[in-house]
Amino acid sequence: MSGGPTVQITDSMDTVNEVNDENVEDIVDPWTVQSSNAKGVDYDKLIKRFGSSKIDESLLNRFEKIAASRGQKVHPFIKRGLFFSHRDLDHILSLHEQGKHFYLYTGRGPSSAAMHMGHLIPFMTTRYLQKLFDVPVVIQLTDDEKFLWKDLQLEECFGLSRENTKDIIACGFDPEKTFIFSDLSYIGSCKEFYWNMKRIEKLVTFNQVKGIFGFGDSDCIGKISFPAIQAAPSFSSSFPHIFNGRTNIPCLIPCAIDQDPYFRMTRDVAPRLHLSKPALMHSVFFPALQGAQTKMSASDPTSSVFLTDTLAQIKKKINKYAFSGGRDTIEEHRKYGGDCEVDVSFQYLQFFLDDDDELEQIRKDYSSGALLTGELKQKLIKILQELVGHHQAERAKVTEEVINYFWRTDKYACSEKYPPLPKGSDKKKKKKGTPKMKEATDEIGNLKVTRETT
Ligand code: TYM
Repeated sequence: MSGGPTVQITDSMDTVNEVNDENVEDIVDPWTVQSSNAKGVDYDKLIKRFGSSKIDESLLNRFEKIAASRGQKVHPFIKRGLFFSHRDLDHILSLHEQGKHFYLYTGRGPSSAAMHMGHLIPFMTTRYLQKLFDVPVVIQLTDDEKFLWKDLQLEECFGLSRENTKDIIACGFDPEKTFIFSDLSYIGSCKEFYWNMKRIEKLVTFNQVKGIFGFGDSDCIGKISFPAIQAAPSFSSSFPHIFNGRTNIPCLIPCAIDQDPYFRMTRDVAPRLHLSKPALMHSVFFPALQGAQTKMSASDPTSSVFLTDTLAQIKKKINKYAFSGGRDTIEEHRKYGGDCEVDVSFQYLQFFLDDDDELEQIRKDYSSGALLTGELKQKLIKILQELVGHHQAERAKVTEEVINYFWRTDKYACSEKYPPLPKGSDKKKKKKGTPKMKEATDEIGNLKVTRETT
């Protein structure tokens, strides 16, 4: 092998989904989220297994201070620990405190026209963070990914990107500071993005992607190189029209923890490209109606409330399918109380009922048996109907022209914020003798890594 030292993962590596004594049968990756426990995935164990950090009190306090200084509150998703894990979020908060730049990046794989409630979580959070920090947002629509993974034609995937763009815009993003892009459309028009993809592809071996994503011999070659495409937006140089060619603007990625494998890989290659590692904020999963053991599926209409559901459908779905932590009879329920930890309606309220005191009262009343399952469900139905009704009204306002505006590359006044630096001066300095091996080991977490030097 020619060139400098390369990092190779051995064949005996642990995969993301390894079943071990510590975490029996929890499967968490971009395609599957499954737990054998009715309470769902054990997120504390996942933090250890993925090698991320908990969003703890001190980070929450820093959020509180920043929010208060801007006359805002900390978003309930963050305050209630639904965003539970992170990588380098402390660094991003420090940048903000020092008045330095960063940007937000998130995305969606457009596999169907109807997005579900779970998909709203990262977008609502990113919208909140955009407002709080006043920063640019880039949103990747991986229609190329869906072409490779699903039985869909390119034309269909591209069409779904346009459809999903409407739902994303309906979340309230700032049109002047938000770039939504379809991979199928943008990559061919942006040399810098494509070059970053190539740089990333060169640094990751087939062995590594096999270990991280579980690819096998019969997977098409498009899938094997796809992770580089999801990694590329983590680097500001992939968006020259926003960042004026600056390669050093750090990035924060809000997403559910299923997407972390892509960014462990990205964080592994970043120092070898002399670029900043992206920071991450991971959320738990919004559970399927049937319970926290499974991930919601766009192909199963009974697994979730969809943003296209009518108000009557929402009512029917919650009443019929939302897994209940209540008892079999009213008498037993009054006597022993319900179990909030497995009750899906209560868990949905944790996401979408803003009033902390009311939520706490409901928790107490349901646990004591004072509140019945039917009553709990009525509260949830009302909140979801309002939320989805509002979303649908906002979505209906999104015309083709509005979509085009969010997809445009020539509108960024914010590039004035990023004056070009003298050539080469914004690259991270390569430290002589930096132990590259250590970086890779840290980010890949529990995978075994060996270094190969020629
Ligand atoms: P996709 O379309 O599967 O999911 C879009 C976003 O929604 C999150 N998500 C959930 N969050 C909470 N509860 C759930 N039940 C739930 N289901 C999905 C996902 O974590 C994701 O944040 N390949 C990606 C698209 C992508 C992307 C990104 C996502 C491209 N670049 C950067 C996040 C960050 C995908 O197919 O996501």
